[in-house]
Amino acid sequence: MKTLLIENNLLLASNLIKEGKLVAFPTETVFGLGADFKNENAVLKIFKVKKRPKFDPLIVHIADRNMIFKLWKNFPDIYLKLIDKFWPGPLTIIWKKQEIVHDVITAGLSTVGIRMPSHKIANEFIRLSNTAVCAPSANLFGKVSPTHWEHVMSEFNGKISAIIKGYSDIGIESTVVRFVDDKLLILRPGFITIEDLRYIYPHTYMANELDRKHSPGHFKKHYAPNVKTILYNGWESLDKLLKKYKNKDIFVISFKNNYNMKNQIILSKDGDLKEAAKNLFKSLKKAENSNCDLLLVEIVPEYGIGIAINDRLKKASAK
Ligand code: TXA
Ligand code: MG
Repeated sequence: MKTLLIENNLLLASNLIKEGKLVAFPTETVFGLGADFKNENAVLKIFKVKKRPKFDPLIVHIADRNMIFKLWKNFPDIYLKLIDKFWPGPLTIIWKKQEIVHDVITAGLSTVGIRMPSHKIANEFIRLSNTAVCAPSANLFGKVSPTHWEHVMSEFNGKISAIIKGYSDIGIESTVVRFVDDKLLILRPGFITIEDLRYIYPHTYMANELDRKHSPGHFKKHYAPNVKTILYNGWESLDKLLKKYKNKDIFVISFKNNYNMKNQIILSKDGDLKEAAKNLFKSLKKAENSNCDLLLVEIVPEYGIGIAINDRLKKASAK
């Protein structure tokens, strides 16, 4: 199969969706690998090309707010406040699904996650498709998420119908939430922080392991580069690792410090967590393409978006 690289012709991309094909598209968080949510065969193809286990549900992306009434059963009032504040944007909200949402999308769960991306291309592409587009991140299962069309091309060239050219500005996935027993639970930390959510709904909490049974897609190892990865915390711990692995070809990704090493990327010279998030996945990609045999990555401060960054780093380095 030839994979088209689409630049301006979003009508062509939307026609491919209508024909049941797979199209990767940029969103503000990461690229999605999209299919028409109504077409079960197209949805099944996503799992196949991504090598994603069938028990890991997909998010449904919309461009028109009224779709929530079609996709969700009666939902809590607080959801309208969240939607007013955070949509379009990087918040995925989970609720009980209507019959129209196929079980393959939700992995047999009675709930579906919905998100309205703010990326102009994503928004226009979904609108022209005249449907909802279900999409996981456009990477092979368990691997680093793509923030640039070239990342998608390197994994899916010849396997999907098209890739829409573009970039992801935020660079880290959406925050996934669900309302349970009067609490808003964060099932996956993301760009929208717990503080942002508490401002709208004070009873917001990070889900504990038990609550995470609501989100089957949480694996210990995920977002993993194709090279052994170890985390460090500050210069002393880096120094120890450099000595221990002195015979290895090492690549370092630091938060803000410059160690003047040959193979080093700094996530944000100013120590800005938003900039670090934006650079995170593309730096992991660069490291895995550098032919190094060990990657050392610095943990970032554990607040704000730092919580989501560290979550990805811990999973990327898990055994
Ligand atoms: O920013 C994002 O969310 C990106 C862009 C493309 O929108 N998408 C993304 O999708 O990260 P994916 O499939 O890589 O991650 C979705 C996460 C998974 O951990 C999945 O288990 C969880 O959301 N999820 C999806 N539907 C769910 C549901 N009904 N209940 C609980 N968790 C759900
Ligand atoms: Mg993913």
